[in-house]
Amino acid sequence: MINLFSPELNRNPYPMYQTMRQSQPVMHIESLDIWSVFRYADVKTVLSDHARFSSQYGRPPGVDESASEQARRRSTLITTDPPHHTDLRSLVNRAFTPRAVDALEPRIEEIANELLDKHAASGQIDFVKDFSYPLPVIVISELLGIPSEDRDRFKHWSDEIVASADQVLGNTDAKSDSAHQEMGAYFHEIIQERRKSPQSDLISALIEAEVDSERLTEEDILSFCWLLLVAGNETTTNLIGNAMLTLLEQPQQLALLRQNPALLSGAIEESLRYRSPVQAMFRMTTEDVEIAGHTIPAGKRVVAWIGSANRDEEKFAEPDQFDITRNPNPHIAFGHGIHFCLGAPLARLEARIALSTALERLQDVSRVADGPLEPARGFIVHGVTSLPLKFSAKS
Ligand code: HEM
Repeated sequence: MINLFSPELNRNPYPMYQTMRQSQPVMHIESLDIWSVFRYADVKTVLSDHARFSSQYGRPPGVDESASEQARRRSTLITTDPPHHTDLRSLVNRAFTPRAVDALEPRIEEIANELLDKHAASGQIDFVKDFSYPLPVIVISELLGIPSEDRDRFKHWSDEIVASADQVLGNTDAKSDSAHQEMGAYFHEIIQERRKSPQSDLISALIEAEVDSERLTEEDILSFCWLLLVAGNETTTNLIGNAMLTLLEQPQQLALLRQNPALLSGAIEESLRYRSPVQAMFRMTTEDVEIAGHTIPAGKRVVAWIGSANRDEEKFAEPDQFDITRNPNPHIAFGHGIHFCLGAPLARLEARIALSTALERLQDVSRVADGPLEPARGFIVHGVTSLPLKFSAKS
C-alpha cells in the first residue's frame, strides 16, 4: 500500500500520481479514513463545490480540538464556508487590494537586489536559504507593518505551523501549538498599538475595513495575519526555488527564457503547474457524494491532490514536459472557486521580480553539486530547503 503522506514521496510524487490517476483516481485510505482524488476534473470539483465539500475540516474524529483551535478555524478565511467566508473575504479584500500589491513593486526589487548583493563577490549563493526564503517574509512583514528584526521569529512560527499541517492526519504537535500561542500574543500587541495610532499598513487597514457596517473582530484580524504568514511565505519561497531548479534542470528552456525575457510570465505559470508549491488541500463532505463512480459518505475528509491534477494527461498535452511556452495553461496551483488564492497577484509579482533580477545578475549559473536535494517538510508544501548555486556576477 502506498503511503501518500510519506516525506520521501515529496521528493518526486509524480510517478505515484500517474499510477493513481490511472488505477485508483478516487482512493479510500482505510487506516486514516481519508479519501483522495487525483484527476484534474475531480480535484476542481472538490475545491470549488463548497456546498458538498466544506472547508471546515478540523481534526479527525476522536481527536479533540482545543477551544482556541476551534475559534481560529471559525475566523480563518481558508477554513470557513459561506456565508461567513463571503463576509470575511469582502472585508479583507478591502484592505488587501491590487493597488496595495502593485505599490510594492519597487520595494520588492530593492529587497531582491539587496539579498543578491551580499553574495555577488563570492560567486556562490544558496538560492533558497539566502534568497527565495527571506524575500517573501521581508515583503509580508513590511506589508503588515511589522519590524523586520522580528522576521526570524515569523519564519520560525510559520515553518512550525506549515509543517504541522499533518495534524489533520491525527498527529498532535506541541511545537505548533506553542507557535500559535506566541504568534497570537505578538499580534495582539501590535493590533492594540495600531488601534491607538493607525499607520499606513495592512493591519491598520484591516482594523478600518468595513462592509455593510460589519467590521473584523480582533480574532478575525489575528487569524488573517496568521494566514498570510502561513499561506504566503513557504509557498512563494517554493515557487521561486522550484522555478530556478527546473530551469537549471532544463538548460534549453533557460536559454529560451534568456533570449526572450517576455516568456517570464509563461515560465512562472509553467513552474506553478509542473512543481506546484501547494500539492494538496483538504475538504470535508457535507453529504454522501458521488464522484467518478465512487460514493464518499458524508462527514469524511477528502484530499484534493492539486499536484496530480496539474499533471493530468487528460487536461495537459505532454504533462511531464516543462514548457515555458505552454499556452493555454489552465493549472489550478492557486486553487479554484471561492477560496482561490487571495495572494496570487502578490506571489506572481514576487516571483517575476525575484527571477528576473536573479537571471539578470547571476550569469553562467549552475548547481554547486549534483545529487538529491532536501525536500520541504510535510506533504502539502512542495519544494527544496536548500539550493546551492555558483555563478559569475554580471559586472
Ligand atoms: C488560498 C496556493 C501565495 C494568501 C490558497 C489556495 C491555494 C493557494 C491552493 C486555496 C486553498 C483552498 O482552496 O482551500 C498558493 C500558492 C502560493 C500562494 C501556490 C505561492 C506560489 C499566497 C500569498 C498569500 C496567500 C503570497 C498572501 C500574502 C492566501 C489566502 C488564501 C489562499 C488568504 C485563502 C483564500 C480563501 O480561503 O478565500 N492559496 N498561495 N497565498 N492564499 Fe495562497
